[in-house]
Amino acid sequence: MSAPSASEIAAAAAVLRGGGLVAFPTETVYGLGANARDPVAVAKIFAAKGRPADHPLIVHLGAADQLDQWAAVVPEAARRLAAAFWPGPLAMVLPRRPEVPDAVTGGFDTVGLRVPGHSVALALLRAFGGGIAAPSANRYGRVSPTCAAHVREELGDRVDHVLDGGRCDVGIESTIVDLSGDVPRLLRPGAVTAADLERVLGHPVETAVGDAATPAPGRKPSHYAPLARVVLATAGDAARTANAWRARGARVGLMAAARPEALEPGIDWLALPADPAAQAHELYQRLRDADAHGLEVVVAVLPEDRGIGHALRDRLRRAAGQGDGRPDVADARH
Ligand code: TXA
Ligand code: MG
Repeated sequence: MSAPSASEIAAAAAVLRGGGLVAFPTETVYGLGANARDPVAVAKIFAAKGRPADHPLIVHLGAADQLDQWAAVVPEAARRLAAAFWPGPLAMVLPRRPEVPDAVTGGFDTVGLRVPGHSVALALLRAFGGGIAAPSANRYGRVSPTCAAHVREELGDRVDHVLDGGRCDVGIESTIVDLSGDVPRLLRPGAVTAADLERVLGHPVETAVGDAATPAPGRKPSHYAPLARVVLATAGDAARTANAWRARGARVGLMAAARPEALEPGIDWLALPADPAAQAHELYQRLRDADAHGLEVVVAVLPEDRGIGHALRDRLRRAAGQGDGRPDVADARH
């Protein structure tokens, strides 16, 4: 894969200016972008994804000095986090300026903002010159794309141009922190951890992940789901769980860092690396592999709840339809 040329970037920026949709790589996942100042263009994102119109989008910026063009209030905490983590996998929710289109904010009085850490995204933002509203470039409720081929599979000709920037480094969506209230609240865990945020802020961050009162489709219990049913397991009971599903006649895969000896034949092995950051890089590819192999059940071993492992557990629980922490949800798919 060679990086998009300057003329391809310029053409993509022209598509955005003309009200079209451009899919582009970020360090987390691929985004489906439109001119964030153009409500008609933004509406096309929702149509292409099949996403409910009241779900807010993150506006991508070329640099932190554009924050004030979108946020009515930029607290000191936001400036500190921007200085520490941008460009990078952190989105901040701030009070919106009144002229930010409702199509972007879902009608809420806040706006999500981030400067992505990917050279192609930054080149596009520079060439375009404004904010790009972009959710992950997948159909609503499905696994986020981590390479350009995934975007084409998901959206086909519903997108006017796909910029290919290779595979995404991080592989799972950005951390979202809400700075619009009195205390910072973590809305979605990601590669920037709560401990990372607390180190920069100098005080604790509240966790609102799974809090049904806050609107965020990425936080719906059954988000990020492959077609296969995802069943969560520990390293200790993974083989038993997979074997039991196999014995019932299901087409089963096991996704884990180490292959258990007791695994019966006929079970697909979906290998993940041992390192949690490397697991994040591979996770969505493995879930897509499971669907490509026609698996009905994927038994997934939860990683340890440390560092980015926390975000991985969050995504796996959502893939299993257990994002709100309920212990037993019958079917992950719907
Ligand atoms: O890593 C990422 O954030 C990727 C790349 C493309 O930047 N984008 C992404 O967008 O994951 P999306 O739309 O799939 O998820 C963004 C999440 C949604 O759950 C949305 O509800 C939430 O951010 N969000 C956006 N604006 C918000 C706001 N004003 N208040 C609360 N949540 C917000
Ligand atoms: Mg998404």
